Amino acid sequence: MSNSHLVVVGSGIAGLYGALLAAEAGVRVTLLTKGTLAQSNTHQAQGGICAVLAEGEAAPGDSVEAHIADTLKAGAGQCDPDAVRILCTEAAGDIAALERFGVRFDRDAAGRRALGLEGAHSAARILHAGGDATGAAIADGLINAVRDAADLGLMTVLEGCFATELLARPAAPAADPHDAGSPPRAAIAGIAYLDQGDERQALEADAVLLATGGAGQLFEFTTNPAVATGDGVALAWRAGAVLADLEYFQFHPTALAVGQNFLISEAVRGAGAVLRDANGEAFMPRYHPEGDLAPRDVVSRSIAAHLETLAAEAGLAGRDEGPHHVFLDATGIETANGHGYLARRFPTIDAATAALGFDWRRDWLPVAPAAHYWMGGVATDLHGRTSVPGLFAAGEAACTGVHGANRLASNSLLEGLVFSRRAVAAFTGGSAWHVMHDGAASLPGVPAPAAGEVRETAAPAAPPRPELRHVMAAHAGVVRDSHGLQEAAAALGTPAETGVGRPPSGDHPDTSERRELEDRNLALVARLLVHAAQARENSAGAHFRSDFPQATDAPSPHQAARASNHWVNP
Ligand code: SIN
Repeated sequence: MSNSHLVVVGSGIAGLYGALLAAEAGVRVTLLTKGTLAQSNTHQAQGGICAVLAEGEAAPGDSVEAHIADTLKAGAGQCDPDAVRILCTEAAGDIAALERFGVRFDRDAAGRRALGLEGAHSAARILHAGGDATGAAIADGLINAVRDAADLGLMTVLEGCFATELLARPAAPAADPHDAGSPPRAAIAGIAYLDQGDERQALEADAVLLATGGAGQLFEFTTNPAVATGDGVALAWRAGAVLADLEYFQFHPTALAVGQNFLISEAVRGAGAVLRDANGEAFMPRYHPEGDLAPRDVVSRSIAAHLETLAAEAGLAGRDEGPHHVFLDATGIETANGHGYLARRFPTIDAATAALGFDWRRDWLPVAPAAHYWMGGVATDLHGRTSVPGLFAAGEAACTGVHGANRLASNSLLEGLVFSRRAVAAFTGGSAWHVMHDGAASLPGVPAPAAGEVRETAAPAAPPRPELRHVMAAHAGVVRDSHGLQEAAAALGTPAETGVGRPPSGDHPDTSERRELEDRNLALVARLLVHAAQARENSAGAHFRSDFPQATDAPSPHQAARASNHWVNP
């Protein structure tokens, strides 16, 4: 392995951790990111990271089985049960590894790691750091370790470098005897990118790990940073990778409805905050027995439904004319825990809300759902391997099947750790070459290319970004229907227009402007998401069709493909 070269794209938890583990294993690693190492969704994460710790530190009565059950339930029957079992069983080991890399979690008065509660969890099992600055504590710890590794010559770090294309080597005959009857497939040979000076560069690699994060910038209202433009999913699609579950995009119920949609962590509701409408009614018990701590998709949908009801009661024509937000009342937390508690437990939120003129000890905060996390992405097996030989994916860019149709709170950082480690282990263990059989390449909703087919890099002109984000928020958000999705599809164009099936030109995209490249990526993944949402004529978790409100018992296509053994695991 020592002569192998792994390029890791992205610097959230999956990218940083994967790069460190690969370097430890003696692999030559290049970590490439389009911003600085600290620009990521991970860095902004507040609430924490789930894990059922060893007996003595876990909450009384909690267990790995309970974590598994909560994850499956929140995922609305659409999770891959094998992936969920791996996630929950292996969690504590990766938490220990994080601590080895210098991450420090908050501790209680007895010196045990402090545990918070969040929605849809049956026990307190959320580790946090710096109160509500968990992501920053984890990212900063890993970044320090990455910089140390780079100083020791164990890794190369390329910041400000924008990945533009995955490079493929000519198709080779199948090496795997299981795959003898399949046509040969092109394998990853490296990556093309724009360097800090916008010059085109290329890196040869034995494998690429995509850890590029999410795509919250698809929507007008999002908790995600500006860098979350779906780049990895777009790169993988153009290289011919199978994508899965793209219709499942989670909206966090409590983003501030003013300013930049700053996230008010679910841990605040876990600590006792309550959603209220403008009349003061704590309305969530009307909609779900678990009230304010119902699964995230339920709370977001309940807010949308309640706003509709209020508009109708006021004789207004519809949601657009009615109120656009509800309120989060955290005043009882301060009363129950004593003066100064909110600032101590949630220092980041305390400072951010104060900067906007709120005193949340006394004031209710105006909140509304905002795009937060994409459950769908590049389809992987349980070892981070995609359908393209040599291409791995981990973290939010991947679809491991672990989150199903709705991610359980604080499982995202955990997934980034567990499956990035497994991807690196698959690569260093020499099982990078992997072929998906034909069945899995026909996932409904997202047309997959035939073996060896490469998708053209050039896309039709993208709608201006503000228009795209508006269209997506209006028609592909918390509640969808066929009419709205049709309008969105017409405004965006269809995935077929990206030129699937046309031969590769070998050219790089025809612009060096990063903003335009991001716009193209956003336009492509928007089309793919809308296409998948149109194809799924039922409702599950975060994908709610008001014209097909009945929930589905059918497994997700991703799960079905895996169950019928379309994934080949040497
Ligand atoms: C939050 O703190 O509410 C966000 C954590 C998550 O997305 O799981």
